[in-house]
Amino acid sequence: MSGDVKDLALAEEGKRKIQWANQHMPVLQLIRKQFIKEQPLKGVRMSACLHVTSETANLAITLRDGGADVVLCASNPLSTQDDVAACLVKDFNIPTFAIKGEDNATYYAHISAALDHKPQITMDDGADLVTQLLTKRPELLKNVIGGTEETTTGVIRLRAMAKDGTLKYPVIAVNDALTKHMFDNRYGTGQSSIDGILRATNLLIAGLRFVVSGYGWCGKGVAMRAKGLGADVIVTEVSPVRALEAVMDGFRVMPMVEAAKIGDVFITVTGNKSILAHEHFEKMKDGAVISNSGHFNVEIDIRALEKLSSSKKIVRPFVEEYTMKDGRKIYLLGEGRLINLAAAEGHPAAVMDMSFANQSLASEYLVKHHSELKNQVYSVPEPIDRQIAKLKLESMGILVDKLTPDQEQYLASWSEGT
Ligand SMILES: NC(=O)c1ccc[n+]([C@@H]2O[C@H](COP(=O)([O-])OP(=O)(O)OC[C@H]3O[C@@H](n4cnc5c(N)ncnc54)[C@H](O)[C@@H]3O)[C@@H](O)[C@H]2O)c1
Repeated sequence: MSGDVKDLALAEEGKRKIQWANQHMPVLQLIRKQFIKEQPLKGVRMSACLHVTSETANLAITLRDGGADVVLCASNPLSTQDDVAACLVKDFNIPTFAIKGEDNATYYAHISAALDHKPQITMDDGADLVTQLLTKRPELLKNVIGGTEETTTGVIRLRAMAKDGTLKYPVIAVNDALTKHMFDNRYGTGQSSIDGILRATNLLIAGLRFVVSGYGWCGKGVAMRAKGLGADVIVTEVSPVRALEAVMDGFRVMPMVEAAKIGDVFITVTGNKSILAHEHFEKMKDGAVISNSGHFNVEIDIRALEKLSSSKKIVRPFVEEYTMKDGRKIYLLGEGRLINLAAAEGHPAAVMDMSFANQSLASEYLVKHHSELKNQVYSVPEPIDRQIAKLKLESMGILVDKLTPDQEQYLASWSEGT
């Protein structure tokens, strides 16, 4: 197996990117050192379906150095960094199946190729690999000891599978680790989604009405960063608690039908479908820019947009101009796919450091404990979460206080405090 990448000649550029990311991933570096010594994944066949970026490359190398036999495929047709994919194949001997802009058929052919590896551990970002394995390649189930899942949408899909008995092996929800979603989803998606919008459009954010749909971990991050750049941020939500949180964080909250009339830039980060649909496109201002940073490209109803438009054309890389039948123009970014990965480079390495530390240690945990686990979705064990936070702080040179024995006793007791 050697993989399928755009051009092996890009490997040198990919190597520079991987090295740069590695410098900003100190926790993963420590885990890698430990893995090289202890070989916790020795001989374990792993198929990983992740965004093929320089940070992911460092994860794949860490797993390989821990003894695993790893193959990698893309978890999104637009998020691959072709130079990184080339380098993984050429310089690290890690079979990689990923080409930026691949069509749907190639995307699924690449997932299938990763499954040909007969994985014992699956690693997913969005649950496409496990879904293909369960529905199209059930004969492979006998090899699998467990899996991990990187993102909110994947965890939701896996919980639905576990509920109706379709999930046939234990999966660790890496997304649910505090050291993952509190940082990756919030600070990673927050910064990199704005970066994607800026790289695609070069708009001045200051003074724009910036509509963020979904005030979850990702939405909070995007709203916070848009505000920091001077935008007038409007939030749309369905959860009363999250809507209230947005109000108290200083944002205007209103239904999307209202926001649609006044927004200049829209970004969806809900993990849900049809957040921007026919009734919204009808009301949008001329020149509105629409984008998505949720996992799947279903948050913007592109078919409805097409039906309302008389023509479309690409006006800049990752910017498609839709001319409505009434003459208004709406600009769709990155084909409605995760804008931070389509038009920018995804999350910064410093934040993926923690996410991928969780992936690495969750894989080690699966190898050690799979026989005790049921066909359910499990959280990352708390000691792993705490350890990653501790290592990250240490890498930043930040010290924290320790509980005194007296304080420990106080906190453990119900009779003190009067
Ligand atoms: N772009 C990235 O790199 C990246 C990174 C992490 C997660 N994600 C993806 O982003 C999405 C959101 O993740 P999260 O961790 O913020 O999830 P979350 O569950 O914390 O938040 C989602 C929010 O969307 C709200 N919502 C649902 N339907 C809605 C609707 N119709 N209108 C308005 N709000 C609605 C929910 O009430 C919730 O508050 C998921 O698809 C996740 O997989 C993307």
